[in-house]
Amino acid sequence: MAGIVNVGIIGAGRIGKVHAQTLAYRIPSAKIQAVADLNAPAAGQLAAQLSIPVATGNYRDVLENPDIQAVFICSATNTHAQFAEEAARAGKHIFCEKPIALNLKDIDCALEAVDRAGVKLQVGFNRRFDSNFYRVRLAIESGEIGKPALLHIISRDPAPPPVSYVKVSGGMFLDMTIHDFDMARFLIGAEVEEVYTLAGITVDPAIGEAGDVDTAVIMLKFANGVIGTIDNCRRASYGYDQRVEVLGSKGSIATSNNYPNAATISDGSSVRRDLPLNFFMDRYTESFATEVAAFIDAVANDKPVPVTGRDARVPVVMGLAAEKSYREGRPVKLSEIG
Ligand SMILES: NC(=O)c1ccc[n+]([C@@H]2O[C@H](COP(=O)([O-])OP(=O)(O)OC[C@H]3O[C@@H](n4cnc5c(N)ncnc54)[C@H](O)[C@@H]3O)[C@@H](O)[C@H]2O)c1
Repeated sequence: MAGIVNVGIIGAGRIGKVHAQTLAYRIPSAKIQAVADLNAPAAGQLAAQLSIPVATGNYRDVLENPDIQAVFICSATNTHAQFAEEAARAGKHIFCEKPIALNLKDIDCALEAVDRAGVKLQVGFNRRFDSNFYRVRLAIESGEIGKPALLHIISRDPAPPPVSYVKVSGGMFLDMTIHDFDMARFLIGAEVEEVYTLAGITVDPAIGEAGDVDTAVIMLKFANGVIGTIDNCRRASYGYDQRVEVLGSKGSIATSNNYPNAATISDGSSVRRDLPLNFFMDRYTESFATEVAAFIDAVANDKPVPVTGRDARVPVVMGLAAEKSYREGRPVKLSEIG
């Protein structure tokens, strides 16, 4: 095991704090040397809380710090591609939150810079590190359920985001479904060739007025013959609904939601339990910590990262194809997108 990995954080918002806390409290082989946020007081607060030596309003202070080997890009999506490119040029290993960008041109520029610099890049598709979904992957990889035939992903948010968020989100397919596109290729271990989308507005007409959809089923045709569905809705009144089922030639594997407790209450009128964990910060807490640990391990021990630049790009292609399929009312091959 190499020594301590010195890291810098760019973006001290919601996810930046989560990753910083993991690094500070749970990964002894990492040390945060600096945190930057355009909102300098936010950087200052996080630095004070976690005893980070440098807080700054300028991300370049992180990239130019010679003590830092790896940066966590946790700022707003529209900064990721530029910051990743600059970080690569500065010779830093990169953990970049998803997505690198909402268009392929910017993603490709960033990936080229990473390749040229020979640095590591891991993208924040944290659901791969969720213990339930990882178990599904193992069952498929090991042949435990035979040859997979059908995949069903249910991925529903508890409540729709504000319309102000929808307007800058890149649309539901690139904002929300992108995690499910990543899950689909990760779980099956093969690429999707074609998608067909049925989508509409069932939750909030204002989302439709903003040009987006809030409800969709996306059918997936994999190169290895597997047929898949992704079922998305921006509202599930009972909480965050995140389930997967795969049918294979020798059996099936299914995961249910995660709950705050395992209690069931039985009385004369019903048998019931409490609602599932409400949203991603609760449901995926452990997966966020595990992905960060995997990145630090890859840097410290010069191992390949578990989520690559290609893994960052393909779900964006799938999202663009799903959007095109919805707009044009027909199946769309990924090869039509590029
Ligand atoms: N993997 C996941 O499940 C997951 C979950 C949440 C967020 N994210 C991603 O993480 C990113 C951040 O999301 P968030 O929810 O933490 O948002 P947020 O708004 O809470 O935080 C973003 C922070 O970035 C800072 N920032 C913006 N521009 C900057 C710049 N030029 N230089 C330095 N700092 C800058 C903002 O001031 C803000 O503090 C988004 O790309 C989002 O898609 C991923």
